[in-house]
Amino acid sequence: MNRNLALEFVRVTEMAAIASARFMGRGDEKAADQAAVDAMRTMLDSVDCEGTVVIGEGERDEAPMLYIGEKVGTGNGPKLDIALDPLEGTAVCASGANNSISVMAIAEHGHFLNAPDTYMLKIAAGPEGRGVIDILESPTENLRRLAQAKKCRVQDLTAIILNRPRHKELIDEVRRSGARIQLIGDGDVAGAIATCMPKAGVDILFGIGGAPEGVIAAAALRCLGGEFQGILKPRNQEEIERARKMGVSDINKVWSINELAHGDVMFCATGVTSGEFLRGVRFSPWGAQTHSLVMRSKTGTIRHIEAEHHFDKKPQLS
Ligand code: FBP
Repeated sequence: MNRNLALEFVRVTEMAAIASARFMGRGDEKAADQAAVDAMRTMLDSVDCEGTVVIGEGERDEAPMLYIGEKVGTGNGPKLDIALDPLEGTAVCASGANNSISVMAIAEHGHFLNAPDTYMLKIAAGPEGRGVIDILESPTENLRRLAQAKKCRVQDLTAIILNRPRHKELIDEVRRSGARIQLIGDGDVAGAIATCMPKAGVDILFGIGGAPEGVIAAAALRCLGGEFQGILKPRNQEEIERARKMGVSDINKVWSINELAHGDVMFCATGVTSGEFLRGVRFSPWGAQTHSLVMRSKTGTIRHIEAEHHFDKKPQLS
């Protein structure tokens, strides 16, 4: 993949972030998400590639735009698969809380797991967790192993967990282990990335979240040298059938980070509301400022891009 494409794709997440950030704290999740989807869809068509959405807003019959299988890009250029979430953390943005992002991961054709829209049990950690954490082990054992690898005590570790009733037992167990916990309202892609960002003060992610978000997080952690494992957790028979239709024969399989996103992967994310590693969009009389992260697995280069968008020189999408 041509590395210059990364800069083309970050323009896409920047525009989606600006569009949805207008809705920060306005209590309208649907409008925030729609603004991000519209902007991302429009911008994607300016990128020279033959893109296919493999992780998107849903299946064709339920999502009018950015649905799984939709063709995007100019049609001239490399054949790419795109995993995207125009607004990851819709509720977060609508309530004005932290950590909503606009995000995309890009790989060569066939390199992402075609994840069904179901749940996934996930575990993620930074580079010290590679070859150390194991999703089949208990949270207590994983914390013990990670503490050993990081040469610290379990009490020094912080686990990030989605605050959901389904995680009650998990939260109780992590508390018993002595580790600290950061409960998040939404946004486990940002949560997984935070485990690789020393400044974020987060060591490990546990819990069940969206499977599509799992693929996007795995792509990000491939670039950051972190570790990620997932097991699909369908909620009913219909979701099992859907997973089978998408090519998953063993529902209980442990998906490794490389199986979720393999080969040369690019990742970009732009902050919508401020979080652990990205500042949210700021508006001013002349335009807006954005903060994005752009990464490639091949080189491991991590770029923070702070951009000023001057609306008088650049037509706005909405
Ligand atoms: P959205 O992008 O749809 O807002 O998803 C937010 C999110 O919190 C994800 O980060 C997470 O994987 C998933 O929802 C968890 O699902 P649920 O809210 O059903 O627990």
